[in-house]
Amino acid sequence: MKNALKLAAIPGDGIGIEVIEAGLQVLDALSARMGTFALDVEHFDWGSERYRREGRFMPEDGAEQLRAFDAILFGAVGAPDVPDHLSLWGLRLAICQPLDQFANVRPTRILPGVSSPLRNARPEDLDWVIVRENSEGEYSGQGGRSHRGLPHEVATDVAIFTRAGVERVMRFAFELARSRPRRKLTVVTKSNAQRYGMVLWDEVAAEVARDFPDVAWDKMLVDAMTVRMTLDPASLDTIVATNLHADILSDLAAALSGSIGIAPTANLNPERTTPSMFEPIHGSAFDITGKGVANPIATFWTCSMMLDHLGEAEASVRLMAAIETVVADPANHTPDLGGTATTRSVTQAVIDAL
Ligand code: IPM
Ligand code: MG
Repeated sequence: MKNALKLAAIPGDGIGIEVIEAGLQVLDALSARMGTFALDVEHFDWGSERYRREGRFMPEDGAEQLRAFDAILFGAVGAPDVPDHLSLWGLRLAICQPLDQFANVRPTRILPGVSSPLRNARPEDLDWVIVRENSEGEYSGQGGRSHRGLPHEVATDVAIFTRAGVERVMRFAFELARSRPRRKLTVVTKSNAQRYGMVLWDEVAAEVARDFPDVAWDKMLVDAMTVRMTLDPASLDTIVATNLHADILSDLAAALSGSIGIAPTANLNPERTTPSMFEPIHGSAFDITGKGVANPIATFWTCSMMLDHLGEAEASVRLMAAIETVVADPANHTPDLGGTATTRSVTQAVIDAL
């Protein structure tokens, strides 16, 4: 019996449209080669164009509509003429929060054939997974503005940390660390300056750690963490941090691995009560939109994570192997990797490698 997977595709804006099309082509080819799963894809035209037309990025019950799917494949949201905070809160967070996709997982590796800006880094020196708390913290959406335009105008963004929220992402991170060969977790905070929420993180980390005696763990302050990532990458493996800290650290991680055009992400609901959402990290990239040179590798890697989550482990591994074969050849490098390959040629190369 084939695993019938119901997939919601939301290409969104900019190069999101190009890379999701490429991703679906590769998934189709993989499905034909494997014979173990079949895809039933529904497309949603949600994004900035819809916002210009109708004043909403997605229908009011958008997140509800998505509950009927096994997974969501998301491209990017954001356009030069739409304020970024509107598109983020109107689409991406409007999906992640109601569907309670609380664990954002961001693997980073230096893939074969890709060179890191770190002078001496060997591929085996940088093999990380960043777990980003994805439901609260600095992105909790609480705050406001008052006394607009007056000299004493006030604006607040309240970072909210709950014991339940910290504990569930911490448990997820420890479990992930345990599943990886090195069994190592680094917990990142800023508990020297932020003495309530971040101290709660430290306390919860120590409590949860007792249930994982086989995982070696340590703590880092986020500023010092940027130094360690740059100067001693091999000392890190699995990393857990707050919503904002991990947002920043994952961009650094992507840059250190050679290109943000490669970095994938999964917004997971580990309890599986709702569909999880998979997306490349790079964003809509209007500077290269429509030129056919967007690197589809991040989306392919994202698809590999999605298949793994959906119980298609073998297909996931096969896709990742094809990605590595293709990227190892500089002829398949798009401009972000210093080459002249196109979205189409890289997509075809991956299909051939499958
Ligand atoms: C990310 C992005 C988003 C974020 C942007 C587009 C708002 O940077 O997914 O890392 O900050 O969450
Ligand atoms: Mg980011």
